[in-house]
Amino acid sequence: MSPRTNLAATMEFPPPTDQPNVFPLSWHRGTEKMEEIWSASQREVWDPAELPWDTFDPESYTWEEREAIAYWWTLLSVFDASAPPVFAQALIKTYEVHEEDAVRRCFFSVTRDEQNHEQMCGMAITRLLGHPDPLAYEPKTELGELAQRNAKWLYFNGGRYWEGYKEAVPRYPLAVLFSSFLMGEIAAATIFHQMAAGAREPVFEEAFKHIGRDEGRHMAICMSLMDRDYPKLDVSERSLITKQIRAGYLFLSAVLYEPPPDFWDLPADFIDVQRRCEAVARDAGFHIPDVDEKRENWRSAILNLKGVLDLYDIPFPAIPEVGISGEEISDVDLDAIIPVF
Ligand SMILES: [Fe+2]
Ligand SMILES: [Fe+2]
Repeated sequence: MSPRTNLAATMEFPPPTDQPNVFPLSWHRGTEKMEEIWSASQREVWDPAELPWDTFDPESYTWEEREAIAYWWTLLSVFDASAPPVFAQALIKTYEVHEEDAVRRCFFSVTRDEQNHEQMCGMAITRLLGHPDPLAYEPKTELGELAQRNAKWLYFNGGRYWEGYKEAVPRYPLAVLFSSFLMGEIAAATIFHQMAAGAREPVFEEAFKHIGRDEGRHMAICMSLMDRDYPKLDVSERSLITKQIRAGYLFLSAVLYEPPPDFWDLPADFIDVQRRCEAVARDAGFHIPDVDEKRENWRSAILNLKGVLDLYDIPFPAIPEVGISGEEISDVDLDAIIPVF
């Protein structure tokens, strides 16, 4: 509309604004649970810069240990550094579709939390490597070289989904988009609590406690959205969720378990290098659950999610990798997955 169309001179009230429009002028209350989660997020705000960094001395570690621990943070950041823009996009959608006020605030809180997680990854990596960019940094040890090559491949794989995600956001309802994300949140909440419990450095222990708590809230946001919207889903959306869950499993396995080769395009010795890094990090006191613990954690997160989807008669995909039977999904839509947790 050109600013010179002087509509106001011709009518008493303006014409209606086209919808969907990013600009709701309303603050409807609906899902009470979302209000509770929002208040919790306000109480539990934290700032990674305020952690006891002065107790952390990277020089008390060998270069191999520093590079191995930095590798773990880099692996995490492949997921957490994509989260702020992913949620910023979802936040805009909550405004466009004029979501309830508390739902908008909850998505805002996830965006902020994920920004913190991303900052935390950056602070840890920068101190450990003495360099702010793990892909451009010059490795000091043989394991550091291999870890960096792994990181480059992870980054390449993680970067493939942004275009697809942007296209998926306007097409699908929030509760469908975020179905696979819930599985990540459930598993992430557990893994961070385990890492906090085993951490030796106060700075990492505190960070993992905060991150684990944040992920628990994100999980609750997903659950409330599902509770509200899944009973009203139509059949085509149900089968889309089944596929999303399978895609989410494949994607998130890279950080929560081990990356499945049918999805992740990685060098043949990738897993071997990752296991070597994890072993060095563990010996240096940086607790990472071992592969059996990871599989168990991942499996119970998936079973939890299955319990939720069963309530709404949404078929669950087969995940034979962790011993879960269900619907065979072969045509996973790699373009529409949500690459975060
Ligand atoms: Fe996160
Ligand atoms: Fe999260």
